[in-house]
Amino acid sequence: MKYCFIFFLTLSFLGSGCLPDAAKVNEYEETAPEVNRDFIHEKFILTREDFAEHLTGLSMAVAEDPAGFLDIAVRMLEMQPEYLLLVDKNHALDPKFQPEDSVDLAFYPELTRGRDGLFLSRKAAEALVKLSKAAAADEVILVISSAYRSYEYQQGLFSMFADRDGEEAASRYSARAGMSQHQLGTTVDFGDITNAFSESSAGIWMAENAGDFGWSLSYPQNLEAETGYTWESWHWRWIGTDAVKMQDEYFDGIQSRMLVFWNGNAPLLREALIP
Ligand code: DAL
Ligand code: ZN
Repeated sequence: MKYCFIFFLTLSFLGSGCLPDAAKVNEYEETAPEVNRDFIHEKFILTREDFAEHLTGLSMAVAEDPAGFLDIAVRMLEMQPEYLLLVDKNHALDPKFQPEDSVDLAFYPELTRGRDGLFLSRKAAEALVKLSKAAAADEVILVISSAYRSYEYQQGLFSMFADRDGEEAASRYSARAGMSQHQLGTTVDFGDITNAFSESSAGIWMAENAGDFGWSLSYPQNLEAETGYTWESWHWRWIGTDAVKMQDEYFDGIQSRMLVFWNGNAPLLREALIP
């Protein structure tokens, strides 16, 4: 679409004979604002018609406020795409996928680790430090129980649960290898990894404050049909404050709903973005 637009501008330029003719310039200045007024947002070559025709799975909230949606989308497009990757039962990561700049959480004295050998991608680790410091200021300690997991580690974990409970039961609470958000290096489990966490001071604090630091609950209560997993009050993914805003304002606060939409439409939005 961007290329069509550039092609159109090039044709207009060539059609002018490439001369800085004052009459042509005036003509352009008079017509250009007309053209631009048709775009929903100054940063995107997207008309309302493009938006309705080419974006898939538009929620009512997005359809009603496309300009507000695009305001947030601009900033999300500046993020590294893997921070917003959809990883679920239908979208697996490559077995070789690893976070680019993984760091040992032992290097951050502000963090409370449940064990050694916990790693995250640097951005997520820094966001976790901010989160933990804010919690500590409210006298709440966030204990980190699990962070990055390799493909192979997840494979072992799932097969252990499948041996214990059967594959079908295990797949309601444990991801198969390649399908865990933990492989991204941006996801953390807190506390004792049971839903008693939701009633603890840490769980209550997270539910109230985590979004302000870019952390999002991946598997909310009563949404197994949509997320693929039963409620996990302890499992939080860092997606950044803009994506949390997008999730809350346009997708009913549901991370998976926002990420399904984002992954379906981000390529088109990227293409339509004015550099
Ligand atoms: N417990 C979540 C679904 C995981 O295994 O990643
Ligand atoms: Zn988890």
